[in-house]
Amino acid sequence: MDSIVVEKLTKKFGDFTAVNGISFSVRSGELFGLLGPNGAGKTTTINMLSTLLEPTSGRGKVAGFDIHEKRDDVRKNIGIVFQEPALDGELTGRENLEFHAMMYGMDKKERRNKINEVLKIVELGDRADVVVNNYSGGMKRRLEIGRGLIHKPKVLFLDEPTLGLDAQTRRRIWEYIRKLRDFGVTIILTTHYMEEADSLCDRVAIIDRGKIVALDTPEKLKDMLGGDAISLEVGKRCSGFIKELEKQKWVKTVKKHDSTVTLTTETGEKKIPEIFRIAQKAKTEIESVKLHKPSLENVYLHFTGKTIREHELGQRDKNKAMMARRRRFHG
Ligand SMILES: Nc1ncnc2c1ncn2[C@@H]1O[C@H](COP(=O)(O)OP(=O)(O)O)[C@@H](O)[C@H]1O
Ligand SMILES: [Mg+2]
Repeated sequence: MDSIVVEKLTKKFGDFTAVNGISFSVRSGELFGLLGPNGAGKTTTINMLSTLLEPTSGRGKVAGFDIHEKRDDVRKNIGIVFQEPALDGELTGRENLEFHAMMYGMDKKERRNKINEVLKIVELGDRADVVVNNYSGGMKRRLEIGRGLIHKPKVLFLDEPTLGLDAQTRRRIWEYIRKLRDFGVTIILTTHYMEEADSLCDRVAIIDRGKIVALDTPEKLKDMLGGDAISLEVGKRCSGFIKELEKQKWVKTVKKHDSTVTLTTETGEKKIPEIFRIAQKAKTEIESVKLHKPSLENVYLHFTGKTIREHELGQRDKNKAMMARRRRFHG
């Protein structure tokens, strides 16, 4: 079952096309990521899917409802955590949740139960009666995620859920997001953090200037680059071993440098036992093995021609960064 289906969704602001005919679907219970730099069109996409913004053209269905024709039904079935924090700092955490629950027309008992349940999920139970202005950035984010869950949405939108948080806090937020999956909610999140998309998402759509340029599981995206590099420290007798490796269909390239043999192949981890069998037959001893998998950063670079950082820097800053890199390089 698909929770979200998007067909050729487009948003123009005047002459400018912010989202350019994107299509994808998200399975029920899936954690789906939109990965792209600032200005790629992530928030605009989320805003269209959550009915806050009318598409220029194309169609979308969320939780089974058309985003154009069934806006109220869509809204009842989704939760949103906005990119910009949207809490009342002068209210306590509990009061913020209370206010939100009332908007969804829950009665008092239901509100109390649901709020306590949500506070438990985001581990804010003991800080619930503290004024939000006294919360840390991470606590505010957790409260917002909790708020998005109050009315038991089928689909939760998280727009840059860890933007601006330090690495440690970010990792904790990831843990909460992973936990949400256990509740069966379908999650679509946007991010420009590679590690976030890589470590959290079941599938990732890379979005660049309003278009999806690649979409798959992080693993498959990385495999698309022609695979992994396996480096083997070998003993002296290895020419027979190398010859045998070169004969294998699944081996793309083999190189030898000093006592290191490096080969490239897809899904390297699955080939290691076979490599050992071949070595044993050729009477070559393998002393150590290193597996290098390309990162999502490599994938991003491959599909967009730039690193995400370079996308976000202006031309002037880019030159500056390049000069700094050169200076570092030349010592
Ligand atoms: N209301 C608007 N009017 C005009 N341009 C907009 C508006 N909202 C977004 N944009 C532009 O659309 C592009 C995509 O923006 P956005 O969806 O916010 O990107 P992201 O969330 O990926 O950073 C940007 O170039 C942005 O300046
Ligand atoms: Mg955005």
